[in-house]
Amino acid sequence: MNKIAIIGSGRVGEAAAHLLAQKSLAKDVMLIDVRPGIAAGVALDIQECAPLFGFDARLHGSTDIADIVDSDVVVITAGKPRQPGMSRMDVLDENNKILLEIAAGIKQYAASAIVIVVTNPVDILTYQLWRHTGFPKQRVIGQAGVLDAARMASFVALETGFSVQDISTMVLGGHGDAMVPMTRYTCINGIPIAHFLDEETIARIVKRTREGGAEILALKQTSSAYDAPGAAIVEMIEAIHYDRKRLLPCVALLDGEYGHSDIAAGVPVVLGAQGVESVVELNLEPVEIEAFNESLLRLRDDLKTLTDNS
Ligand code: LAC
Repeated sequence: MNKIAIIGSGRVGEAAAHLLAQKSLAKDVMLIDVRPGIAAGVALDIQECAPLFGFDARLHGSTDIADIVDSDVVVITAGKPRQPGMSRMDVLDENNKILLEIAAGIKQYAASAIVIVVTNPVDILTYQLWRHTGFPKQRVIGQAGVLDAARMASFVALETGFSVQDISTMVLGGHGDAMVPMTRYTCINGIPIAHFLDEETIARIVKRTREGGAEILALKQTSSAYDAPGAAIVEMIEAIHYDRKRLLPCVALLDGEYGHSDIAAGVPVVLGAQGVESVVELNLEPVEIEAFNESLLRLRDDLKTLTDNS
């Protein structure tokens, strides 16, 4: 991969850029931010790590979205962050406006890129980006499930004491309070967690996963999570870069899968060089279908609240 652009040079964008450079996933990493000097400063700071980590990537910063030109992957992290007590929906209107401007820029300057949306509310903004760019749905992906599944795996490790290397988790639905952590598919080296943990502990893990973002925001007060979100973005880009065909939970455009169309939500996808190469449909149990549908119902309600309806 030659060039990756990150639009939004806040903490999530910075964490992702640093990891991308360290892992040498692109020759050039272009950071964009509307605030003068911010992207250039972040880029230079990371560039100065190069001798310490031994990477040859070149970091660049700009205020001009035209500088995303020829990017293979564009990541969108720009937007108003939520404050303690706010839900991801409280930033919808403002971030929708920002996203529509960015969508126009991507369409103009990087029309063949794979786009990863991270800005919240991520499911809705992934859908909006797809609608407003007209890009094939394979090339429009949202980051949420990789982060939520990593959080869930961390909590399973903390509760059981097992290595995270042996823990696999899956989280479906919207990236909000109604997300659906799939305990039935949560295993320790293939053994379902119910073998090791009682119902109460599993329920605690599910709740903590759902509230994972809010827990960090409540602790830090002045910032949302950024280390794990940045790492989650890079895990997705790695799958694309190496055409790994990873099976990861991502926000994808649905076209009949799970009985839903014309919406984007978290589902297991195969991620490779083409982006979302397929959506994997699981045979859900009635209670899981109900939870998934409830989560999507909330997304549809939220979409309807967009004031300018664009
Ligand atoms: C979180 C924000 C990034 O879950 O949505 O931490």
